[in-house]
Amino acid sequence: MDFELTEEQKLIQTTARDFARAEIAPKAAEIDKSGRWPGEIVKKMAELGFLGMAIPTEHGGAGLDTLSYALAMEEISAACASCGVIMSVNNSLFCDPVYKFGTDAQKKEILAPVARGDKLGCFGLTEPMSGSDAQTMATNAEKTADGWVLNGAKNWITNGPHADYIVVFAVTDRSGPKIKHTAFIVPKGTPGYTQNAPDHKLGIHGAHSCTVFFENCKVPDSAILGAVGEGFKVAMATLDGGRIGIASQALGIAKAALDTSVGYAKERKSFGVPIAQHQAIQFMLSDMATELDAARLLTWRAASMKDRGARHSMESAEAKLYASEMATRVAHKAIQIHGGYGYSTEFPVERNYRDARITEIYEGTSEIQRIVIAASLLKA
Ligand code: CAA
Repeated sequence: MDFELTEEQKLIQTTARDFARAEIAPKAAEIDKSGRWPGEIVKKMAELGFLGMAIPTEHGGAGLDTLSYALAMEEISAACASCGVIMSVNNSLFCDPVYKFGTDAQKKEILAPVARGDKLGCFGLTEPMSGSDAQTMATNAEKTADGWVLNGAKNWITNGPHADYIVVFAVTDRSGPKIKHTAFIVPKGTPGYTQNAPDHKLGIHGAHSCTVFFENCKVPDSAILGAVGEGFKVAMATLDGGRIGIASQALGIAKAALDTSVGYAKERKSFGVPIAQHQAIQFMLSDMATELDAARLLTWRAASMKDRGARHSMESAEAKLYASEMATRVAHKAIQIHGGYGYSTEFPVERNYRDARITEIYEGTSEIQRIVIAASLLKA
């Protein structure tokens, strides 16, 4: 097995790292504190091609592979986890399914501007009463003579307050033993598609999310993404890719916490020596680095499988499960190494700790990842 990145992948990694360190990291604490939307950073990410990384150039994307996307996601998220998830939702949860399941017209009119970053996308699966058990959604779409009428609500919609389009899932047939879902692309401004104020959250304060509502929202047949009745598979296949994005976000958060901790351990003295000389600190740093590398290898494997066109549901779930729980453990140790300073906003590790926590929840909780892994194991 070759763990060496290609020259192109190394270039993407360096470009993302330099950009993140120079233009995002200095603003990350302020974005977290103010909770403002980092619009100017989203614009620059678009200019760098980071909002449609694995979409072919003829559809407005950067024409790169999923591994390059994972590398860039890690670097951006190391600087600012909010910017990381804004990027991840646009790439994985909007561009990827529109590229995979969209019609030529949808690719031309909708995918290209979103992949270029001129427009922004979001993904509406979760509802107030159905998160993990996604199939049981209440949102309905009823067929009319000239299209569909959507009714329902979706919540925790990352990018929702700023997105120009949503990929939204609705039940279109409840008559048989299995309910059937269909995916739709709905542009902002469609009558009946509204949203409430952004959510208040523990972390990722710059990545605005909200509840969106569909009240007698009429869309044409051309809004359907994929086939009628096949929407749940569109959602699941999309999340297989999305979980690589979130695993990469977790890698970035953990890397930031580890790097800060190494720097601090060399500077801070106790008992007459830098604390880096105490085995208690060395052991924590060693465990943090080992777990981070293990998570990175799982994530890169899932990304490589996606690039090869191999089914990667189990591998993405393993990567997301391990990387997200690892990020929380690493950020926890980072605070411990910093002592009282770690608990204060003077150092970024308390932000890393708050930001890490969501990676264990969105795009499928750790418990859902275990269900996906077990299902793959048991069906073999
Ligand atoms: N790819 C393609 N098809 C798939 C699939 C996949 N990865 N996984 C399942 N399917 C298909 C199955 O083959 C099955 O097809 P048939 O009906 O033809 O047999 C169908 O989908 C239903 O599959 P299951 O019976 O396995 O479905 P389930 O109801 O048992 O649920 C689940 C499976 C894994 C629990 C799923 O509901 C799930 O992933 N839940 C978590 C939802 C989630 O991750 N939400 C996150 C929201 S997005 C978000 O967080 C965005 C954000 O803002 C950042």
